[in-house]
Amino acid sequence: MRRLFPVTDETAAQTRGDAEWSLAELADAYAYPEPEAGGGGPGVWLRANMVSTLDGAGQHDGRSQPISSAADMRIFGTLRALADVVVVGAETVRQEGYRPARARAEFAGMREAARQGPVPAIAVVSASLDLDFSLPLFTAPLVPTLILTGAAAAPDRTAAAEKAGARVVVAGDGVGVEPARAVQALAGLGHTRLLTEGGPRLLGQLVAAGVLDELCLTVAPMLTAGDAQRIAGGPSVGVPQRFGLVSLLEEEGFLFSRYGRS
Ligand SMILES: NC(=O)c1ccc[n+]([C@@H]2O[C@H](COP(=O)([O-])OP(=O)(O)OC[C@H]3O[C@@H](n4cnc5c(N)ncnc54)[C@H](OP(=O)(O)O)[C@@H]3O)[C@@H](O)[C@H]2O)c1
Repeated sequence: MRRLFPVTDETAAQTRGDAEWSLAELADAYAYPEPEAGGGGPGVWLRANMVSTLDGAGQHDGRSQPISSAADMRIFGTLRALADVVVVGAETVRQEGYRPARARAEFAGMREAARQGPVPAIAVVSASLDLDFSLPLFTAPLVPTLILTGAAAAPDRTAAAEKAGARVVVAGDGVGVEPARAVQALAGLGHTRLLTEGGPRLLGQLVAAGVLDELCLTVAPMLTAGDAQRIAGGPSVGVPQRFGLVSLLEEEGFLFSRYGRS
């Protein structure tokens, strides 16, 4: 992997072509900013990690795995290891068969030093709560899985979620979740380093609500054509939101960009 941007005297050593970066180097490259005011409020930082093909597809055959790579998965794992919580839409959980985050020895010391639990909590955003609560994601995580939903969610489904061991967090007055309230609710639980893994319908709402601080976007050197969803959907924002390039890494033609709110 090589760093294409920024290139300074300090980073020149990381422009090493084929050498694989250690997980510690990746964790350094993707460290959360020091606590400051993000879109979700002081001290809270919400980043998204998404992958897209050259022609803008965020999935192939309903999954992101075919457009990912080994380096992309290393960064995916590193971003999880840095986060307090992973926020994900229910459809991605259903389609990608989400499992609980697993503890990794390589990151144990880093998480302990950051006063984080062994793994980030997974927070599933859902209005219908049409989720299989018998799955390990709900029954056997290392830290309880959170369900972000609205106050009007079906009581029998919230009861089923809680019976399975999940923690239901209300972040909306109707059945749906209001993005800014979700961020605040997570911050209220002590989760300030937030990571969302999409999907596009959820990401679009986070963008529209102005609570997304950073986008870690992998550009896969692939063309898929077709009508796959792009990485953010839903109604478009009134004025395009401007983000600045923070860093750009490359391996085997895959670009790993990091854009922050300008
Ligand atoms: N390219 C990438 O990096 C990437 C990343 C992730 C996923 N994906 C792909 O994207 C596809 C799934 O994405 P998607 O956009 O269809 O779905 P999604 O955003 O993962 O999930 C949509 C679901 O989330 C819940 N939800 C979203 N907003 C909500 C709100 N405000 N309040 C309450 N619930 C809300 C609803 O769940 P309920 O229906 O349960 O109410 C909704 O049906 C999959 O094919 C996956 O492979 C790609």
